Amino acid sequence: MNIAPVQPFQAIAISRIAHELAEQGRSVIHMEFGQPSTSAPAAAIAEAHRVLDAEAMGYWESNALKERIARYYHDAHGVAVDREQVILTCGASPAFVLALSCLFAPGARVALARPGYVAYRNTLSALYLEPVELPCGPAERYQITAAALAALDPAPDGVIIASPANPTGTIIPPDELAAIAKVCRTRGIRVISDEIYHGLSFGEPAASMLEHLPDAFIVNSFSKYFSMPGWRLGWLVVPPDAVDAARARMGNLFLTPPVIAQRAGLVALDCREELEGHRQTYARNRALMLEALPALGLSEVAPPDGAFYLYADIGHLTDDSLAFCTALLRDTGVCTAPGVDFDPVEGHHFIRFSFAVSTAEVREAIARMVPWFARRAVTA
Ligand SMILES: Cc1ncc(COP(=O)(O)O)c(C=O)c1O
Repeated sequence: MNIAPVQPFQAIAISRIAHELAEQGRSVIHMEFGQPSTSAPAAAIAEAHRVLDAEAMGYWESNALKERIARYYHDAHGVAVDREQVILTCGASPAFVLALSCLFAPGARVALARPGYVAYRNTLSALYLEPVELPCGPAERYQITAAALAALDPAPDGVIIASPANPTGTIIPPDELAAIAKVCRTRGIRVISDEIYHGLSFGEPAASMLEHLPDAFIVNSFSKYFSMPGWRLGWLVVPPDAVDAARARMGNLFLTPPVIAQRAGLVALDCREELEGHRQTYARNRALMLEALPALGLSEVAPPDGAFYLYADIGHLTDDSLAFCTALLRDTGVCTAPGVDFDPVEGHHFIRFSFAVSTAEVREAIARMVPWFARRAVTA
């Protein structure tokens, strides 16, 4: 049997160059990774300091955290979740592995949007599952539609939904989400909903798939809205009949998330004011980026409804997004992610900007990029 192919993340290679340039004294603006440049909320950090001195930190799961997360679904989405349905994980990434391994046997076909988060495709491959990529363009705002799922023949075994999505930040409208749920219920398609960017929306908050499908598997994390990517804490909500299977997998594959992260995470869940400040920064950054699009000569963009990304077509400038992003970095110090990370077919003419940096950095990045893009437009 052939070993599953897993592709590297090209943005990591570009980021490595960025760090080398910074070591040489160059000014670099990091817009390549999807991570907040802010630290965890102040009260969560204070709690972590306390825990370090007070606890031995063994293998442990916080019932209080599971209960608080269950309450969040009631408060934010009006759905009842029992605390035992919440499996605490070391971020969204292992939550995916748990969900996929609970739901599917090797060879199962799982649909997902293309473009999409690179790890979906690679995690599916690593688990010997078959990604069924649905090409999504600007007309459907780069999101899976109910019609596309209904048209798949044969029906896939599962589908991964992401709203807001990476790399585009687009949200599936509420009626479309309901329609997707209906198609999945009718056709027996199991749903994994990645809700990691919930909390980060610029208009209406995104709905949870749990509002439509009680047997959906929901992935979430402290890495984005809560500004705690390196703390490695997330969760998976599973339907009651999958609790034992999910817990067994968590225990065997990953044991428990770090105690310090669980204690701090519980506090972070109530730091709304500070976190709302980050969201407002992203909203300002988003506005600046959208305003700069004409000056950058970029018109093929679906304005993001959430997250902190802008995904733009640069087909008039290049057909090699990796070389383009590398040249942009070397010439201007602005580090971005090439579309090939998110879309192996069309991504060679797309770029992703992450605007989870400070507003001053966004302004500076735009000032550096505008003349560079103008020169590229002349030579392309
Ligand atoms: C859509 C999406 N899902 C999951 C992850 C993984 O997050 P975590 O740090 O919680 O493992 C990321 C990280 O960038 C992401 O963008």
